[in-house]
Parts: sequence; structure tokens; C-alpha cells
Amino acid sequence: MMEETQPKISSGLEGIYIQESKICKVDGINGRLYYRGYSIETLNDNSDYEEVCYLLLYGRLPKKDEFEKFKSDLRNERTVSTEVMYLARSLSKKMHPTDVLKTAVSALASEDEELADNSPEANARKAVRLISKIATLAAAIERARNGKEPVAPDPSLSHTDNFMYMLTGSKPSSGQSKLINTMFILHAEHSSNASTFTTLVAGSTLADIYSSVTAGMAALKGPLHGGADEAALKMMMNIGDPGNTEQYIEDALAGKQKIMGFGHRVYKTYDPRARILRSYLEELRNDKDPETRRLIEIAIRAEKLMIDKLGNSKGIWPNVDFFSGPLYVWAGIPPELFTSIFAASRMVGWCAHLLEYWTNNRIFRPLEFYTGELDLKYVDIDKR
Ligand SMILES: CC(C)(COP(=O)(O)OP(=O)(O)OC[C@H]1O[C@@H](n2cnc3c(N)ncnc32)[C@H](O)[C@@H]1OP(=O)(O)O)[C@@H](O)C(=O)NCCC(=O)NCCS
Repeated sequence: MMEETQPKISSGLEGIYIQESKICKVDGINGRLYYRGYSIETLNDNSDYEEVCYLLLYGRLPKKDEFEKFKSDLRNERTVSTEVMYLARSLSKKMHPTDVLKTAVSALASEDEELADNSPEANARKAVRLISKIATLAAAIERARNGKEPVAPDPSLSHTDNFMYMLTGSKPSSGQSKLINTMFILHAEHSSNASTFTTLVAGSTLADIYSSVTAGMAALKGPLHGGADEAALKMMMNIGDPGNTEQYIEDALAGKQKIMGFGHRVYKTYDPRARILRSYLEELRNDKDPETRRLIEIAIRAEKLMIDKLGNSKGIWPNVDFFSGPLYVWAGIPPELFTSIFAASRMVGWCAHLLEYWTNNRIFRPLEFYTGELDLKYVDIDKR
């Protein structure tokens, strides 16, 4: 029998390219991020989440009439069937909101009359439905957790303002509106990270778009990925007093714990998304809310210590998940909802990647190098 030679194994698929793509460039050396060629700073300064969705899905910025139609399509898809809403609301007291959202998004397939149509045009329409309806579900699930009825969408509001409206029952202030738009833009897309790759793996079997993004949502949940922002805020809450920050972090590092919201497989420098959020922290440092001020002080002290200890020496810098917590708290958003907002923002990225991948689909099937035994003799259960 021919001996297999030991292959080079890339743990965590580090350094492996899975395809060519025109959607997103993550420049981990220079700390830059581009969606379809536009830097996230440019998009955050000039655009809004709905336009970024168009850009990611269709590859270019829309003309005026195209944008009006796209916004109207998104707004027309905001409602969710009574059955799916009932499912989401009835699970919301028993499960983490991220899990309820994943289950409800999966169930959205039940209300899509085009489910079996796998044409690119039908899939693009399904993407619009998913982007719209996941926001409605995320808001309703959070309200149900608190014993509140859902708030019907307001078609006069943008996607992100309407999300805040459906969540709180009031239109957001201009500050909240700006922040939530930034959050959605910064979380919209990030190349083939764990959740997008998982989405593509499921999609590569020609599973439908709902099944594929549900797989992606499962991968998003973990604290090493989309769950990191909630975990980072919970750490800040545990730290309690800003004066405890350094000792807490030193103890955690000495105990070989990872500090959530730091480090990245691709960025070996400051995550450009974190840089944008960091500027919001500076703006809010003297906010009138003492809880916001306290959390911001902890975040800034933790950032300094981590950069001094692990920044240049190990390439571990703040990522997008570190500063989100204090900002969401300021905006009145509870920690259990952070990952759902991440999922709602990222839905467009998952869909854009699926639409691109399906133009040249090939099933994913990597290998494992087997190191166990072979040709073992079967021993009867009484004789083992
Ligand atoms: C993002 C992440 C999963 C990338 O993982 P990765 O590329 O596989 O890197 P590793 O986990 O192998 O880490 C490499 C080294 O850096 C250390 N490290 C990485 N992230 C760290 C963190 N947040 N805090 C402390 N040390 C960290 C590891 O302990 C390891 O040290 P070692 O070489 O001495 O064993 C990792 O940095 C992490 O777990 N970060 C915290 C979770 C998080 O914020 N995720 C959101 C990402 S946007």
C-alpha cells in the first residue's frame, strides 16, 4: 500500500485563499477595509446603510432612480408573517436572542413563495427580504423578552432609523441615528470570515439562501466571532470601577485568558472599524450619562494597557468588537442584542457572497489527514 506523505496542514485555514472575489478587501497590514473598492471611512462619511447594501449586492453605487426603487423594495419587505412572528416571540423568553433570531430567520423560508426559484434574480429578491425582515425580527424579539408587543415598521424611516423605532417605539435622536447607521455600515461585510465562509459552505451544496445564512448565523454566535462584543462589554461591567481596569486585565492575561475585542486573524494592526468607533468614544467621553462615561474610561484604559503589552510585540490590537459595547449602552441597546445587530448588519454581506459564489459554484470539500489506526480486528462486545 502506498504511504500518504504528511501534507502541510493549515490550522484554522490560515493563509488559504478559497476564491477570487470583488466584494471586499481586508488589508490587514495597513489596517484598511474596502467594500467594492470604497474605503469604509468614505462610506461612513458619505453614505448610509441602505446605499451600502445596494453597493455590496450589485457591485456599484446606485443611480438616483435605482436607489429609490431599492429603498422602496426594502421598505415593502419589512413585515414578517404572523406564524414566524409568533415563533420568534414565543421562544424569546427561553433562549438567547441570537438563537431566537437564527431560528426565526430559518423559518422565514416558510413565507417566501420564491423559495424554490434559484435564479440570480430571485435570489437577489430573497436577499432584500432577508435584510429587511431580520431587522424587524431582531427588534421584536428584544421587545418580547421584555414583555412588549412589536412595533409596526414606519415606511418613512430609513432601515437603521426604523430598526431603532421598532426596538424602542420612538424615533432615534440624531446622535443615535448616526451611530446606528455607522454600526450597520461597519458590520455589513468582512470577506470570508467564519460566518461568511460557513454561509458559503452551506450554499455550495446548493442549499437555499435561508438555510445558508442560518448556517452563517450559527457560526457568528461564538465569542471568538460575533459574540465578542457582548463578551467585551460584560468584561467591562465586571471590571466595575475604571481604577480596577489594569489589574483585571493583567490577572486575565496571567491566567492565559483572551481579552474579547482584541486580536484578529487578518489585521495585525489597529482594525479600521475600531478606529471609527474609537472616535465616537472620544466624542462621548464627557457625556451626561455616568454609566457611559464609566464604561468609556474602562475601555480606554484597557485599550492602552493591551496595546502597550501586546500591540507591537504580538500584533494584537483592538478589533471592531471592543468599543461597540459602551456605544450601544449609550444608545440604549442591551448587551444581549449586540450579536443580533451584528447579524442584521451582516446579512447583506452573507447574501452578496452567496450571489457571487453561485455564479461559479463548486462544493467545498477539504481534506483531513487521518492519523488513527487501520484494519483493526472487530472484537465481540462481550469480549472487550
Ligand atoms: C480573533 C481571534 C479568534 C483570532 O484568532 P487566531 O488568529 O487563531 O489567533 P490565536 O488565537 O492563535 O492567537 C495567537 C496568539 O495571540 C494571543 N491572542 C490572540 N487574541 C488575544 C486576545 N484577545 N487576548 C489575549 N491574547 C490573545 C493568543 O493567546 C496566542 O498567543 P500564543 O501564541 O502565546 O499562544 C483571536 O484574536 C481572539 O480570540 N480574539 C478575541 C475574540 C474576538 O475579539 N473576536 C472578534 C474578532 S473580530
